[in-house]
Amino acid sequence: MIKLAPSILSADFGKLRETVEILNESPADVLHVDVMDGRFVPNISFGFPVLEVLARHSKKPLDVHLMIEEPEKFAERFIKSGASWLSFHLEACAHTHRLLEAVQGWGARPGLAINPQTGLDGMEYLVDCLGFVNVMTVNPGFGGQKFIQAMFHKIKALDELRKKTGSHFEIEIDGGVNMGNAVALKEAGADILVAGNALFSEPQLSEGVLKFKHLLV
Ligand code: DX5
Ligand code: ZN
Repeated sequence: MIKLAPSILSADFGKLRETVEILNESPADVLHVDVMDGRFVPNISFGFPVLEVLARHSKKPLDVHLMIEEPEKFAERFIKSGASWLSFHLEACAHTHRLLEAVQGWGARPGLAINPQTGLDGMEYLVDCLGFVNVMTVNPGFGGQKFIQAMFHKIKALDELRKKTGSHFEIEIDGGVNMGNAVALKEAGADILVAGNALFSEPQLSEGVLKFKHLLV
């Protein structure tokens, strides 16, 4: 079944523990945690101490999305701080293959995130060390942005590449996902849907997660 990953970036940070406890009791599959450095993206979010608190209280695995320059400098520490899944950006890393293997060696599930303008060139050489590909469907940096429709084409192409190469990496969709496009994304080949604004703007987060999951059955 397709996985749902609520994005903590859209949470009320004053109620982080309460939010994690609500999500613990919900059918959410993983918690998506966006780390931004103010260099790779024009925004700064949070780092190790917040991740450690989330890890202490969450019963769900943490899917940490690094939107930082030089991810190789910090990846191991993010895993030690609680990341079960770790994605970093292709555009921010010269030695992608090496870092994907290292992430696996440090005990996390390796993911590669790609910006909207990035194509799939070279991806066929990475399939053996990819746990998942995070297809950015907005320009990274902020929650609550509009989904870029042209990304459907990329998701389908990635699904075809996966079939052609007989590989098993999952396709994660990040940015502008909502209850209006979720089913079409699933049909295009998505396995994991990240949802921030669409879930946290619901009157009750727990109800929002349930509604979203029912859509995806
Ligand atoms: C954007 C982040 C996303 C963001 C998604 O840079 O990578 O994970 O939290 O938020 P929504 O679902 O509101 O677009
Ligand atoms: Zn993200």
